[in-house]
Amino acid sequence: MAAELTALMLFDAGDTVLVQRDLYGGTYRLISSVLAGKGIRAEFVDLRDLDGLRRSINGTTKGIWIETPTNPLMNLVELRAVAAVAQEDGLITICDNTFLSPYFQRPLELGIDLVVHSTTKYINGHSDVVGDAVMTSSAELGERVGYLQNALGTCAAPADCSMVLRGIRTLALRMEEHDRNALAIAHWLEAHARVVRAAPRPRVSSAA
Ligand SMILES: Cc1ncc(COP(=O)(O)O)c(C=O)c1O
Repeated sequence: MAAELTALMLFDAGDTVLVQRDLYGGTYRLISSVLAGKGIRAEFVDLRDLDGLRRSINGTTKGIWIETPTNPLMNLVELRAVAAVAQEDGLITICDNTFLSPYFQRPLELGIDLVVHSTTKYINGHSDVVGDAVMTSSAELGERVGYLQNALGTCAAPADCSMVLRGIRTLALRMEEHDRNALAIAHWLEAHARVVRAAPRPRVSSAA
């Protein structure tokens, strides 16, 4: 959450951030109650609907917040496509990449400006740290985020960083195993006589 707060502090009162409609509840709370009270507005949109996304952009729109896969509904957003729309209007894109980790998804390589991670989860992997990180390949955004981390005090403690460094060394091994286990369970459920496939959920247009 410290990483998320730091990244969102790039925006000012009066700015609007377009936010993926379903996402981690803590992010929703931060954006909809804490930041809204300070004048940074959020508009919740379905980022799978690119035409709806384009229609939602106006003069006050300054950023797009993406989570993919979403927690807990596991909806997927096309990062490259959203980044391309954002670039047309000079918007800052931020992706919460906690669920796939950099092992399975690298948003910066797909055109996203900033990535946030809860390192509490896969990156540390040992359940002994609460932490997070902000990543960017832009020197300008990196400098602004660094300034904010220093000003807000949202940087991690050295001992925690050392634990995360230990954890990240086994990220690849652990993610491969998570993938193998999850796929085995999915295949077992798929073949189970009592499991029926739910109808796909319709996309919700932001214009609706
Ligand atoms: C997708 C996602 N992002 C961010 C967070 C926040 O993580 P933390 O509590 O480590 O700051 C969580 C926590 O569950 C999460 O699931």
